[in-house]
Amino acid sequence: MTDTHRTGEVVADLLEAVHGVLEKHKVTEEEWMAALRFLTDVGRADEFILFSDVTRTSVLIDAMSHGDDDGATASDVEGPLYVEDPPWRDKPVRVYEDYEGMGDDADVLFIRGSVTSTDGTPLPEAVIDIWQTGPSGGYDIWDERQPEHNFRGRWKVEADDGAYEFQTMLPKPYTVPTDGPVGRYLDAVGQHPWRPAHIHFKVDAPAHAPLVTQVFFPDDPYLENDTIGAVKPALVRPVEPEGDHLVCPFGIVLRPAA
Ligand code: BEZ
Ligand code: FE
Repeated sequence: MTDTHRTGEVVADLLEAVHGVLEKHKVTEEEWMAALRFLTDVGRADEFILFSDVTRTSVLIDAMSHGDDDGATASDVEGPLYVEDPPWRDKPVRVYEDYEGMGDDADVLFIRGSVTSTDGTPLPEAVIDIWQTGPSGGYDIWDERQPEHNFRGRWKVEADDGAYEFQTMLPKPYTVPTDGPVGRYLDAVGQHPWRPAHIHFKVDAPAHAPLVTQVFFPDDPYLENDTIGAVKPALVRPVEPEGDHLVCPFGIVLRPAA
């Protein structure tokens, strides 16, 4: 089957579904024009990934794209807030600089584990790339108090046993951007904009399928109610006190490339 053939088949089914909805609800010319204006605004605001996320379409595509029965770490949605070419961090890895307004109740968090293949072989060549919000004020790109690339960074594991560790701060729940057309959509359908606290990971290793995932933390008020529906139980990792900081174990298992 050629790509053109597949596109033709998928588009035909899509149009049949859309036409069915328009007929079922007797959508008027005015309503259809408003819908087209909305989609135009989504494109102009570069919010199509965000729209896919909040409509839980990204979660559906993720679930259909990645198997979960071979012991590999569960994948998850990337979201729109990854920044290309994040800084390489030296070891011991710390992914943030202190900033004014990070909050008095900010908790230092060490995440540690090892990167292995599904057969248990350590992957010292793996590159881990993380991004997250700070404990206050959201992502660096929204929060002018934070230096550029704060709470972002990548590094190569290098340890023979695949072990890694990095220092960060426990993030807090936050809202997806609501100041554009997707914010208007959320209002219109009565959907809240909150996500539970999480840390995004991209992990790449030679001869393995790249992993994009997120780690969540217990007792978060939005675990059951993530606006993008991306929480998977296996990705909710325990957090324990250790001395003056917190520790979260997260073993990362990559699937060999097909
Ligand atoms: C995020 O977690 O960074 C995110 C995911 C979906 C929409 C907006 C933000
Ligand atoms: Fe995020």
